[in-house]
Amino acid sequence: MSPVVRIGVVGLGTVGSGVVRLLAQSADHIERHAGRPIVVERAVVRDPAKDRGLPLAADRISSDIRDISRNPDISIGVLLVGGLEPARSMMIDLLEHGKDVVTANKALLAEHGPELFELARRKGRSIAFEAAVAGGIPIVAAISECLAANRIESIRGILNGTSNFILTRMEEDGADYADVLRLAQSEGYAEADPSMDVDGTDATQKLAILAHLAFGTWVPWDEIPRTGIDGLDLDLLNYAGELGYRIRLVAVARRGDGRLALRVSPALVRKGTPLAETRGAYNAVSIVGDAVGRMFFHGLGAGEMPTASAVVADIIDMVVGRSAITFRTTGMLDVSTGAAGAASAAMQLGGVESHERHFLRIHAADRPGVLARITGILGEHGISIASVIQHAGGEATGDADAVGAAAGTVPLVIMTHACSPAAIVRATTAIDASDVVAGRSICLPVLEE
Ligand code: NAP
Ligand code: HSE
Repeated sequence: MSPVVRIGVVGLGTVGSGVVRLLAQSADHIERHAGRPIVVERAVVRDPAKDRGLPLAADRISSDIRDISRNPDISIGVLLVGGLEPARSMMIDLLEHGKDVVTANKALLAEHGPELFELARRKGRSIAFEAAVAGGIPIVAAISECLAANRIESIRGILNGTSNFILTRMEEDGADYADVLRLAQSEGYAEADPSMDVDGTDATQKLAILAHLAFGTWVPWDEIPRTGIDGLDLDLLNYAGELGYRIRLVAVARRGDGRLALRVSPALVRKGTPLAETRGAYNAVSIVGDAVGRMFFHGLGAGEMPTASAVVADIIDMVVGRSAITFRTTGMLDVSTGAAGAASAAMQLGGVESHERHFLRIHAADRPGVLARITGILGEHGISIASVIQHAGGEATGDADAVGAAAGTVPLVIMTHACSPAAIVRATTAIDASDVVAGRSICLPVLEE
């Protein structure tokens, strides 16, 4: 065995640069954990001529994946290119040529996980992906190793740093959505296509990976109901604040009655609770296991060094032989039939069905009888109202800027008592179809703990 572990890094963007820096600046410490020095032998990027200011000689950087996959001195390929292609082809090339792979690319795993893990198994190689979910939080290891004795009952988490950063800045500073999104991009939090962050795709892909680890069931990520933060506005955050809540993009997975219920959506979380106090680019994951009870994880979910921390931990695990466990669960669930593969739990996919309070914002016509009409529709669907906010004229919260606002309407905010998701969907559909509102109402679930 060579005393030195030589690795190849594919991608030197935010995460790849962090990995190269961390390996250099903490070389002694990392060697003590790995038992051997770890050196970056080659890096592959799109543009090798770019000056990156990294502790890596220019002659070690090229644009051909074969410089890593065909290099017999390299044992580990660290794939830090985002998106599906060429990332998928690169991972296949690395595995086919006998490299173990560490990646942070959750889109790739959520889309092509079964194919890639199957190839890794056939080749006797590992794919490690701690950094793919919740950045620096060691949630993959926690679920697949530390909590392995538990039946996981539920997972609830803030899994997208960019969305959380945007919501926090808007709420705390009244910042403009587009300005904060640009700031998140410049900080290196956002995906190359930031719509994946704000439309809920990124959090949903991460939820699918966690569901796989926790429930042994491969869930097609694009069948998980999802809503992003891109339809929210500052007034919604202010109304939630008035009622004692913050709005967070929350991913939920819950096991029950042979069903696996999953959802990603903005939700109201009560101020003072751990999810509500998760700010900026921080992520948080709350897990309930049958033996351990509720656990809460909190840490930076995006950014150069927090993500590099998770990638380098995976590299060390590979060097010391701890990494194969990360693809032990590969059962496939045919969601349309509920027919499960041998290794998976026999569960069917569904939306989150439990009764919850809901927060509604409606742009109601400013004329007599409208409030009675709207509350009447809610009543017809068995939905009871906990509180109502209507500011005179709407000036108090700057409603003219609200998404969907129209002349001659006033914003009406309603907090319901707990009701079924199906009932609230039917009721809001009926309200939106009535002649007393303008535009579509916004309906968000309320998470009390
Ligand atoms: P990034 O800053 O956009 O960097 C991407 C890197 O991939 C760049 O170095 C780019 O080369 C290289 N690349 C792109 N196409 C390539 C090609 N065809 N051949 C060779 N190299 C290519 O992305 P990132 O933020 O580091 O994210 C990388 C992965 O980590 C993504 O899957 C992301 O979802 C995931 N992740 C990111 C974070 C975060 O905070 N940023 C956190 C967790 C996970 P050039 O530099 O030459 O353009
Ligand atoms: N774009 C992702 C986020 C990076 O904002 O959470 C971390 O996966």
